[in-house]
Amino acid sequence: LTRIGVFTSGGDAPGMNACIRAAVRRAVAEGLGVVGIRRGYAGMIEGDFVEMDRQSVSNILQQGGTILKSARSDEFRTPEGRAKAAANLRAEGIDALVAIGGDGTLQASTHLATEHDVVVVGCPGTIDNDLFGTDETIGFDTALNTALDSIDKIRDTADAHDRLFLVEVMGRDTGFIALACGIGGGAELVLIPEMLTDVGAIKERILSLMAAQSRSSIVVVAEGDELGGAHMIREALSEDPAFDQIDTRVSVLGHIQRGGSPTARDRVLASRLGAGAVEALLEGHAGVMVGVVNGDLKLTPMRNTWSRKKTIDYDLVQLSALLS
Ligand code: F6P
Repeated sequence: LTRIGVFTSGGDAPGMNACIRAAVRRAVAEGLGVVGIRRGYAGMIEGDFVEMDRQSVSNILQQGGTILKSARSDEFRTPEGRAKAAANLRAEGIDALVAIGGDGTLQASTHLATEHDVVVVGCPGTIDNDLFGTDETIGFDTALNTALDSIDKIRDTADAHDRLFLVEVMGRDTGFIALACGIGGGAELVLIPEMLTDVGAIKERILSLMAAQSRSSIVVVAEGDELGGAHMIREALSEDPAFDQIDTRVSVLGHIQRGGSPTARDRVLASRLGAGAVEALLEGHAGVMVGVVNGDLKLTPMRNTWSRKKTIDYDLVQLSALLS
């Protein structure tokens, strides 16, 4: 192993920079050359490479986004696109990759590895926390805290006006962010894709809450819930005349959840995983993702990280219902 490539791909996540920094510095400490691949797989196909050293990752640990930029590449989904990328990697003398991203990124890396014998170790980087093989992904904690901060603020105005707020959070087709910030923000209800969205039960719950206490209610809705997010829930509720009396607002938090300076927890996690990925390469591993399970670094076959479903903690689902 003499020269590695590092890249970020898919939706960016706070802490990706900390992960890049750790991978670069850990590799440089071992005397390896490091090439940054810009704009993920799109840059790999175009040969958008930049030489990196210790200095090139100074002062990025605390920054959100990714200095290497990110992209979602349609071309890489084709065998031709992947062949072009593999040829570029060979021409650049890159003999292993550190891939930082979510399920789409690791799925693409799995194909690159099987089709072209490219050595890849993945780091889980996504706010969604939906990768099998790690208790937490890079960016989840920051996104969660950003969403929670917004929910606290919405609570103030909801309470002032005795309103019902449907707050939509990200998470694609999983409810990790919704569930955690529902509990943290004391939401009256949390709607997640892992559970059926029962409009009748939602109505009953909200009507009884509003009638009994005549105060605000916050429903946290995961964007991927069965009905398709907060606007759809609102529409379903508004068909019932009982909801004419309830002043309802929708707030979609959106990409605010992807930005910002990473929390301490994300910085430490990202640093461990970035360094851990290089160590895995040095030990001769390939086709794996490095994650943290019960506090320890653990390698999981890359294919399993996206083909197996990471399950939500149903104790938390119960707790959220019990405490609301
Ligand atoms: O995977 C991260 C994520 O932010 C999801 O939560 C969300 O569904 C998606 O990316 C949004 O993607 P884009 O930024 O491409 O609109």
